[in-house]
Amino acid sequence: MQENAYEKMNIQWFPGHMTKAQRMIEENVKLVDAVCEILDARIPNSSRNPDIDRLAAGKPRLIILNRCDLADKDVTDAWVKYFTAHGLKVMQTDAKSGKGVNGFARSVRELLADKLKDYAAKGQATRPLRVMILGIPNVGKSTFINKVAGRKAAAAGDKPGVTRGKQWINIDKGLDLLDTPGILWPKFDSQEVGELLAITNAIKSDVLDRETLGANFMLRLCRMYPKALEERYKIVPDPEMNGYELLEQAAKKRGFLVSRGEYDIERMANTLLSEYHDGKLGRLSLERPND
Ligand code: G4P
Repeated sequence: MQENAYEKMNIQWFPGHMTKAQRMIEENVKLVDAVCEILDARIPNSSRNPDIDRLAAGKPRLIILNRCDLADKDVTDAWVKYFTAHGLKVMQTDAKSGKGVNGFARSVRELLADKLKDYAAKGQATRPLRVMILGIPNVGKSTFINKVAGRKAAAAGDKPGVTRGKQWINIDKGLDLLDTPGILWPKFDSQEVGELLAITNAIKSDVLDRETLGANFMLRLCRMYPKALEERYKIVPDPEMNGYELLEQAAKKRGFLVSRGEYDIERMANTLLSEYHDGKLGRLSLERPND
């Protein structure tokens, strides 16, 4: 697949509240013992805050690969190896069903074992550990926190870009979480990152050209998971075709006709994006550690 077959998309994201949220994190990181980054298991690199090393200011870190129910299992395992090799503790979760979430408190205690020993030595054995939860909008932060807390502690919803103020959530006697607003970095330098965030719904879809996004996504899938396209849309992904031609092929198979001989590419683009969102194309990861 030729790189230049991808259409240029202008995805920029500069809302003031994101900068405010970033500042809020910087100010509050000193209040916590550890930082927990919730990432989208399908795009662990693009869903990571590139500023995290500075923001986390040397605190112990835990990585949660969430939405692992939608990601390619082998690729997620490769990401676990990758992050572990970089000295980070990693968990895989599906916060929607709650799978993997149970191990969270134990992982935090393992991560902060030295701190717990310290507290015990000072006679502060009941002092709770405090963990900041970080993640881009819509990655599943509220769902995760609610599952860990066993109650509705944070508002969940599919509203990219909607931020909340910070709040402390008491999990049990030994653990408090600091929920922060979902933040996206103020600017994307890379079209690749912007597109992956848009495909996975971290960026509001109504500010985007969905047709171009869908066409570029088709090309990406044709390169990474041609079998999934064949099975779902009964098309033969031809590497010579551009994304619009692939969408048109799929629209034909679906019978998305606008007029005689003309097919509804935009409807097909929306269908592709929403079916990916719902996991109907299978478990597909869009980033691999060695990319
Ligand atoms: P946020 O706080 O980070 O902004 O995210 P939130 O918890 O509100 O979750 C956003 C959506 O993602 C919710 O869906 C939630 O159910 C879903 N979600 C969270 N974790 C997972 C996961 O591990 N796997 C899957 N498949 N979904 C997850 P929603 O608002 O009900 O809509 P929809 O996205 O399910 O259609």
